[in-house]
Amino acid sequence: MIDRFGRKIEYMRISITDRCNLRCRYCMPAGIKTEKLPMDKILTYEEIVEVVRAAVDCGITRFKITGGEPLARKGCPELIRMIKKIPGVQQVTMTTNGVLLEKFLPELMDAGLDAVNISLDTLNPQTFKVITGYDYFENVIRGINSAVDAGLPVKINSVLQKGVNDNEWEELINIAKDKKADVRFIEMMPIGCGRDYEEVSNEKVFQRIRDKYPAVIEDISIHGNGPARYVKIPGFMGSIGFISAIHGKFCGECNRIRLTAAGRIKPCLCYGNTYDVFSVFRGNETSDIYSEKSRHEMLKSVIRKAVNNKPAQHCFEKLSEITESREMVKIGG
Ligand code: 5AD
Ligand code: SF4
Repeated sequence: MIDRFGRKIEYMRISITDRCNLRCRYCMPAGIKTEKLPMDKILTYEEIVEVVRAAVDCGITRFKITGGEPLARKGCPELIRMIKKIPGVQQVTMTTNGVLLEKFLPELMDAGLDAVNISLDTLNPQTFKVITGYDYFENVIRGINSAVDAGLPVKINSVLQKGVNDNEWEELINIAKDKKADVRFIEMMPIGCGRDYEEVSNEKVFQRIRDKYPAVIEDISIHGNGPARYVKIPGFMGSIGFISAIHGKFCGECNRIRLTAAGRIKPCLCYGNTYDVFSVFRGNETSDIYSEKSRHEMLKSVIRKAVNNKPAQHCFEKLSEITESREMVKIGG
């Protein structure tokens, strides 16, 4: 579908759970009170598959499974297998914190997962504990290695925080030196607890990289679904990417909508408004339960409405205008 601003919307991020086995300080820090959705208030896998079928009919062909932590929900590889079988689906990828990746990798590969993004902000086990609240650093490293060894395309996502891990850019990019994995820096966005932290500008990170590696060149090959800009350092196996939501607004090229675990279609990360698909399945006080055929038509209509109401751009630079009040763990990044 083409939206009001001429953007082709062809990618959907699907959050399958609002739970996580880590407590990253900018996402769902230990101790904050967040209400967890009860299981009967989140879409079942069968319902998600119906939403995907409707999305495919609206021209959406690539899907990313996110969370919370998607591998924390039972049966995640099975959902991937179900989505991969839907005619018209071109690609199914996943974003994970990597803690359970090694364990689930054989099932994920067998299900047909096309690529994986793994979040890793630090190569220091102590800093890992400070940022995520847990001692699972080694698990994540094993997860990354097993995915690379299995030949799965891997991207590492790093969010830098001033004074915490911003001096680690060099160690982090070195992952791409020795491994066939891209390393991407994501600027901290003022969503949820991310508001409490100052972002590190990707421009500055790039400058430091260029000072150290003057031969760095732009990499224009296609790396995935999104807004990252890539550079290549000669001799490195992977590329370095920058997702610069704050200092390099990319809204003009936005190609996505999001489905939350609660069954709401979300046109933009920055704004709280959503479009309800949950009630298409479960009804509400005044409505009946619909047949599969009418559900399909209703789902398409909700998706079209969400795309047609996609705003031109985010307003992360004007904090008072951000209307999204949920934590990132409920949205899936
Ligand atoms: N800003 C930027 N990235 C964030 N993530 C979580 N919260 C934020 C935020 N406020 C990242 C995680 C993970 C991805 C799903 O989103 O680090 O890599
Ligand atoms: Fe979990 Fe990811 Fe949020 Fe960290 S950023 S708490 S790993 S959902």
